[in-house]
Amino acid sequence: MRRRLLIAGAVLLLLTLATRATASEDRAKATAEVAALGGARAFAACAACHSLGAGEPHKVGPNLHAVVGREAASAEGYSYSPALQASGLTWTRANLVAWIADSEALVPGSWMLYHNILTGAEVMSLIDYLQGDLQGDLQGDLESDLGKVED
Ligand code: HEC
Repeated sequence: MRRRLLIAGAVLLLLTLATRATASEDRAKATAEVAALGGARAFAACAACHSLGAGEPHKVGPNLHAVVGREAASAEGYSYSPALQASGLTWTRANLVAWIADSEALVPGSWMLYHNILTGAEVMSLIDYLQGDLQGDLQGDLESDLGKVED
C-alpha cells in the first residue's frame, strides 16, 4: 500500500514536471528545479539554526541569504565567534563544502555545532540551492512547485 502511494507520488511529480517541460527553455528550468529540490530538502539540516530569506532574523546561526561569495562573518547584526571573524575566508563553494563537512577543522574555535549527515551529492545540491537564493525567481517557483507536489 505504502509502496503504491510512493509510486503514485512519483508519477504525479513526473507529470507535474513533464507538463512544465513542454518548451526546451522550460525543460532547462525544470532540471534546475529538480536539482534545487534536493537542495531544499538538504537545507532541513540547517534550518533549525539558519534563516535564508532576505531580511529574515538571525536564529542561533546567522541568516544565510546570498551567502555564496560573501565574506565570512559579514552578516549585519550577528555576533560571530572571534575565530570566524579573524578567518579572512570568503564563502566560495569549496570553502562551504569544507565548512559543512567539518567547520571546526576549517576554522578552529568557531561556534557552529553541526555534525554533518549529508552525502557529497546532497551538499552540492544544497550549495546550488543557497546560490539559487540569489535568483529569488527560482526559489519562488520552487516553493510553489513544492506546494503542488506536497498538496
Ligand atoms: C546547531 C546550529 C547550527 C546548524 C544545525 C547549522 N549551523 Fe551554520 N552556523 C551556526 C552558528 C552558531 C554559526 C556561527 C559560527 C561562528 O560564529 O563561529 C554558523 C555559521 C555558518 C556559516 C557562516 C556564515 C557567515 O555569515 O559567515 C555558514 C556558511 C553556515 N553556518 C552554514 C550552515 C549550513 C549550510 C548548515 C547545514 C548543512 C548549517 N550551517 C547548520 C549554527 C548552525
